Amino acid sequence: MKHVAECRGLLLLGVLICVAFPTLCVAQTRDDSLAPTPPMGWNSWNKFQCNVSEDLIKSVADSMATNGMKDAGYQYVVIDDCWQVDRDPDGNIVVDAKRFPSGIKALADYVHAKGLKLGIYSDAGTKTCAGRPGSQGHEYQDALQYARWGVDYLKYDWCSTGTRNAEEAYSTMSHALMATGRPIVFSMCEWGTAKPWLWANGIGNLWRTTGDIGDKWSANNKWKDGSCCEYGMLEILDQQVGIESFAGPGHWNDPDMLEVGNGGMTTTEYRAHFSFWALLDAPLISGNDVRSMTPEIKEILTNTEVIAVNQDKLGREGHRVRKNGDLEVWAKPMSDGSRAVILFNRGASESEVSVSWEELAYPGHLSAKVRDLWAHKDLGSFTGSFKASVGPHSVVMVKIAP
Ligand code: GLA
Repeated sequence: MKHVAECRGLLLLGVLICVAFPTLCVAQTRDDSLAPTPPMGWNSWNKFQCNVSEDLIKSVADSMATNGMKDAGYQYVVIDDCWQVDRDPDGNIVVDAKRFPSGIKALADYVHAKGLKLGIYSDAGTKTCAGRPGSQGHEYQDALQYARWGVDYLKYDWCSTGTRNAEEAYSTMSHALMATGRPIVFSMCEWGTAKPWLWANGIGNLWRTTGDIGDKWSANNKWKDGSCCEYGMLEILDQQVGIESFAGPGHWNDPDMLEVGNGGMTTTEYRAHFSFWALLDAPLISGNDVRSMTPEIKEILTNTEVIAVNQDKLGREGHRVRKNGDLEVWAKPMSDGSRAVILFNRGASESEVSVSWEELAYPGHLSAKVRDLWAHKDLGSFTGSFKASVGPHSVVMVKIAP
């Protein structure tokens, strides 16, 4: 009896400590509820690289709040590399005062007032990829600073990390963020080098699976000067095959940010790029100048039927069902029992692509309704299979619902 009383006393003491000091009792694994569906937002890097400023971020937030993106689900406005210049004598990170004269707290307040959230960038090494101060050795100090500023999302890069172990490095920052008590989505940008899908569930909410995306269909398309330094959309897509099962609500594979609208692909190719990122449950982080989009690009980024595939609450990443040379079928099971399906033609000439119900794990005799998610049109009921003519570098994306 005495032991029972002692145990009860200790339990009570524990509860009282947690009530008084909640940050001492935070869960030590990442909260999946921070990203129940893939995060959606915008990031400065793909279009602006180091040209970031509070004016840019404010004007992007203004546009997103009014151009249909916020209504379509885009939430995070993320400042990538180059907002930071130094550390002060106490080790605190110093913001570029020329580009961010009002400071990050004021910027977070501004973005929040627009009904959006603010993201920021740092690096697990001594320096960021653009050579600015990294967070190595300052993880808890930096996390606390981000929380005080009102930051909601951290993208954490992997440059200048030397021999550092990735699991240790990302766990350290993950714990530092959790210890602040502020919900901060943790985006791991380790480029897939140490296969984060095998260990990062519980550490990050999303993890990059590859090196950087370039604004081109394929790496065979060289840059104008003939060089080739990043993956094309196709090479990134192919690297997603086989890792689908590691993603799920709260912890997503990240094939890098969107290039839609940056000018290096055709509108048809951008439609394919967006369709795949939606089907792969990829974070939909736009990377273009959303303040001056053509109607075609805006129509792609705000296609609510395609976004609904990405944001489906089941959170099952789509996968490649079949590949016959340049012609492919990809499918994603949806929470209502339907399938989102992409009929894909990588080739240079129009071709017919078909999918059978068996390939979608449906009995062949079932009749199913098919809806075109880009034409926004019901195509009728089909039994056993569906086929469509698919243009070069193009997709037909449908929902098949028995
Ligand atoms: C790395 C990342 C990019 C971007 C840059 C910034 O290359 O993978 O997404 O953040 O660094 O320097």
